[in-house]
Amino acid sequence: MDLYHPSESFVDRANVKPGEPYEALIAKASADPEAFWSDLAESELHWFRKWDKVLDESEAPFYKWFTGATTNMSYNCLDRHCKTWRKNRAAIVWEGEPGDQRTLTYQELLRAVERFAAVLKAQGFRAGDRAILYMPMVPELPVAMLACARLGITHSVVFAGFSAEALKTRILDLDAGLVVTADGGWRRGNIVPLKQAVDDALGDCPGVRSVIVYRRTGNEVEMTPGRDAWWHDLEADVTAGCPAERLDAEHPLYVLYTSGTTGKPKGIVHSTGGYQLQVSMAMRWVFDIKDEDTYWCAADVGWVTGHSYIVYGPLLVGTTTVMYEGAPDFPEPDRFWSLVDKYKVNVFYTSPTAIRAFIKFGTEYPERHDLSSLRLLGSVGEPINPSAWEWYHSVIGGGRCPIVDTWWQTETGSIMISPLPGVTALKPGSGTFPLPGIAADVVDLEGNSVAPGGEGYLVVRKPWPSMFRTLWGDPERFRETYWSQIPGIYFVGDAARKDEDGYFWVLGRVDDVMNVSGHRMSTAELESTLVRHAAVAEAAVVGMPDELTGQAVIAFVTPIQGNDPTDELAAELREWVAQQIGKFARPKQIRFSDALPKTRSGKIMRRLLREIVTTHKVSGDITTLEDLSVVNRLAAQQDED
Ligand code: WT7
Repeated sequence: MDLYHPSESFVDRANVKPGEPYEALIAKASADPEAFWSDLAESELHWFRKWDKVLDESEAPFYKWFTGATTNMSYNCLDRHCKTWRKNRAAIVWEGEPGDQRTLTYQELLRAVERFAAVLKAQGFRAGDRAILYMPMVPELPVAMLACARLGITHSVVFAGFSAEALKTRILDLDAGLVVTADGGWRRGNIVPLKQAVDDALGDCPGVRSVIVYRRTGNEVEMTPGRDAWWHDLEADVTAGCPAERLDAEHPLYVLYTSGTTGKPKGIVHSTGGYQLQVSMAMRWVFDIKDEDTYWCAADVGWVTGHSYIVYGPLLVGTTTVMYEGAPDFPEPDRFWSLVDKYKVNVFYTSPTAIRAFIKFGTEYPERHDLSSLRLLGSVGEPINPSAWEWYHSVIGGGRCPIVDTWWQTETGSIMISPLPGVTALKPGSGTFPLPGIAADVVDLEGNSVAPGGEGYLVVRKPWPSMFRTLWGDPERFRETYWSQIPGIYFVGDAARKDEDGYFWVLGRVDDVMNVSGHRMSTAELESTLVRHAAVAEAAVVGMPDELTGQAVIAFVTPIQGNDPTDELAAELREWVAQQIGKFARPKQIRFSDALPKTRSGKIMRRLLREIVTTHKVSGDITTLEDLSVVNRLAAQQDED
C-alpha cells in the first residue's frame, strides 16, 4: 500500500514536527502522563485557581481531572483573547442558507455572550441549572452555549433535526428549566419550524419555566405569555457586562444525548477543565492551527463534532471558525466549495458520508471554485473507504493536503486516534495512531493486546482529560456499559485491527448500534418506536451496507393481524419514525414478514437478518432457530427485490 507523506513545506511549518520533537512528546506522555497533561494545562489555559491533584482515581471509573482548580470555558474562549491583539480577529464567520453573512470578532462575540448571560441571570438561572438549546446553525447557538458556560448552566444542545417527541424525552430526562430556540431555521429552502416543535414538546414538560425565542426566519409563531419571550426583547432590558463565574474544573459543562443499545438515549456528561485542555491540544496537534488560519468544520453543532470542533476547540485556540446554516447541496451541490473559496478556508473537516455524496455529484462542482487555500483536510464519524479518501485527497486537496482521519466518540469528547499531519505517513482508511497521552489499544476479551495484524476490541487503558464523567442520572449504566466488559478498561464498542506497522483500523461497532451517515442509531430505539405504532406486532432493525451513508436502516416488520403489508403502510411507518425521532432516522426500507427468525427462547436473531441483507443468504449456525422456514422465506423475498 502506498504511504502518503506530508510535503516538506508542510513539515517545515507543522506544529508537531517529525523526529526528535515528536518522539519527545510521546516519551513524556508515556513516562508521566500526569506531568504531561498538567504542564499543558498550565501553558494552554487560564485557571482562576490551580489544581491540587491532576488526576483523582479514588472513585474510579468516576475519574476526576484537575481537582480543586477553578476555571471557566467562556473565559478561556473569549475574555482571555480580548486582552490581546486577537480581540479584533474574526471569531465566527457565518453564512446562512439564503446567503446572508455575518462576522463576529472575538470582542463582538464576548459582548453578545455577556449580554445573553445577563439575560439568563436576570431570569434567575444560575450554576447547576440545565438548559436545552434547540436552535438552527446561527451564531446565537454558540452565543447561548457560551453564555450558559459563563454562568455554569449545564447546556444540552438538541440537534434541530430531532422531532418534538425526541426533544421532550431530553427535556424531561435533564429536568431542564429553560429552553432556548428560534422561530425556525433554513434547510433546503424550507423553514424548519423549531418553535412549533418546542410548543408540541412542552405540553408534557411542566419543569420548563422559560422559553427564549431567537428570531431567525420571521415566520408566525405562538408565544405563551408568562413562559415565552423574544431573545431581542429580553436583551433590550439588560445592561451589558456579566463576568465569568469561577467554576470547579469538574463542573458539568454539557450533556449530549446519544444512542445506546437500549431504547433510551444516554446523556453523556462532559465537565470543564479536562475537556477544554484536550480539545485545545487537538486543535494544535491534529488541525495544526496557525494564527492566520480560517478553519471550517462542516458538521452540525447539534452533534459532539460541532461542540468540540465548531465551537469550543476553535475558540479556545483563538482561530476563526466558519459556520454554515444549511444543506451542502443548496441551491447547488457546489455550496461547500463556494464557501471554501469565498472565505479562503485553510483547514476543512467533514464526514465520509458527505465526501461520498460529493463524489456522486461529480467533480464539476469543486472544479467551479478555487480551492487552493486548503492546506489540511479532516474526516470523522465512520471509517472512510480508501477510494473516497483518494478522491478527497486529489480532487478537494489537490494532492497537497494531508488528511487527518480522526477517530473519537461523543463519550471521548475529543479526538483520540489520528495522524499528526506533519509527522505521520498516511494509509488511506486508517486513523493511524493514538494521540500523545492516549492509551488506546486493540485487545481480546481478557484485555490482552492483539499481536500485529490481529483484530479485536478497541479500548482505552488509561483515563484521559476530556473523557465523559458519567451518564446523566444513571451512573450504574455508565459503569456497566463502559467499564465492566473488561474490568477497569474503557470499552469503546468498536472492533479494530492493528496492522503489522501498528496502524489502527477501526472496523465498526460490535454492539447493536448502527452508524448511518456518521450518526449513531440504536436498533433498540428504532424497534421500540416501530412497535409503538398501532399496526406493528414486532420489529427488528438491522444495518445494511450502503454506498452513500455507510450503513442504512432496514426494518423487518410483522404487522398485527388485519393490517395488510402494503406500500402505504410502509410509507406510514417510515413517516412515523421521522415524526417520533427525526427525519434522519427514517428507515431506508421496511420489509414485511409474517414472522421473524427467533431462538427457541424467543430472542430475535438479528445476526441472521444482518446476513440476509448483506449476503442475501444465511450461513453459520442456525440450530437454535425455532422455525427454519422463516429464514428461507425472508431470503427468498430478498432475491425478488
Ligand atoms: C462512533 C462514535 C466523533 C464524532 C462523530 C461520531 C465511529 C467515529 C470514526 C473514524 C472509524 C469512526 C465509531 C465510534 N467513528 N469516527 N474516524 N473512523 N469510525 O460520534 O455518534 O459518538 O459515534 O463513530 O464507531 O465509536 P458518535
